[in-house]
Amino acid sequence: MPPLQTLTIPKPDDWHLHLRDGAMLKAVLPYTASHFARAVVMPNLKPAITTTAAAAAYRERIREALPPHMTFTPLMTAYLTDTIDPDDLERGFKEGILFAAKLYPAGATTNSDQGVTDIQAISDILDRLQKIDMPLLIHGEVADPAVDFFDRETVFIDRVLIPLRRNFPALRIVMEHITTRYAANYIVSEAQSSHGKLAATVTAHHMRINRNALFEGGLNPHHFCLPVAKREEDRQAVIAAATSGAPMFFAGTDSAPHPRTAKESSHGLGGVFSAPNALALYAETFEKAGSLDRLENFLSLNGPAFYGLPVNAASLKLEKRAAPEEPLKSILTEEAQEVIAFPTESRLSWRVALKEPL
Ligand code: DOR
Ligand code: ZN
Repeated sequence: MPPLQTLTIPKPDDWHLHLRDGAMLKAVLPYTASHFARAVVMPNLKPAITTTAAAAAYRERIREALPPHMTFTPLMTAYLTDTIDPDDLERGFKEGILFAAKLYPAGATTNSDQGVTDIQAISDILDRLQKIDMPLLIHGEVADPAVDFFDRETVFIDRVLIPLRRNFPALRIVMEHITTRYAANYIVSEAQSSHGKLAATVTAHHMRINRNALFEGGLNPHHFCLPVAKREEDRQAVIAAATSGAPMFFAGTDSAPHPRTAKESSHGLGGVFSAPNALALYAETFEKAGSLDRLENFLSLNGPAFYGLPVNAASLKLEKRAAPEEPLKSILTEEAQEVIAFPTESRLSWRVALKEPL
């Protein structure tokens, strides 16, 4: 059956992505590379990518894992620690190996134990980032056990982000994967004073589910990610921000694959593997919000404008099917590890029209 509607946009970029390494990298990379021209690759490997040399080697492994008929540009990040070397960061940035620095508050999420324990302790690093205009990408949650898990993002904004921006007003900052009304409002309210230096990414899954999805039909580990999904009113506020067309919001899937066994276990890991279905999910969300005409801004234009990069020359076609279809449910790595794809429980009415199937 012919599609009900098609939409052709410049090829999108994924401004926040986990690719992992080895067999997992090889298994997940084609799903991103077939839909996105570039992606900002997260450094939370074990051990974490904390030097220019490690980022260059990881970038090489990503290039080697890419199927030969695909083109894809990985944009590498360095994982900030209490002891990271600012000279090495600067060298990596100036040589075009490092694209950005990533701040994980220690203990806030998967593989964040090497992260920053006290933001005050890295002020020389932040100073350097500001000086060379190297973007700071932030996992914006406090790891303080005294703070309610669902308040971690809000408390981070008050305790860390606001003082940070006061001390480093020219620092280019991305508040990643926002999940709350509070964060969405904060980014909008700072639009004037930040002079285009403050932005936020939004995932497809945080626009799709609220925190009820963790518990409906029994505890569902495939809906557990960090930051954790919030209330319906938060989801609505995040959708309103992303679909508003405002230039400081753009797509970052935070697609984060884990083996099914690591998700379906006690102390199951946070992370949702959304890469295969993310563009369809974004399209569906924008259509429901009556904002399909702004999808291009969110997926393809706002990110490059924020980072001062060209819009991708290649294009991508999305199509709305006459009847909703089952999305890809799971993939297998070479080591026979199954990875469940998001969404697990619904059909999708949009899909990417690929010239050649994967
Ligand atoms: O859900 C998440 N998964 N959030 C993160 O911040 C990390 C990621 C991962 O690496 O699995
Ligand atoms: Zn992430």
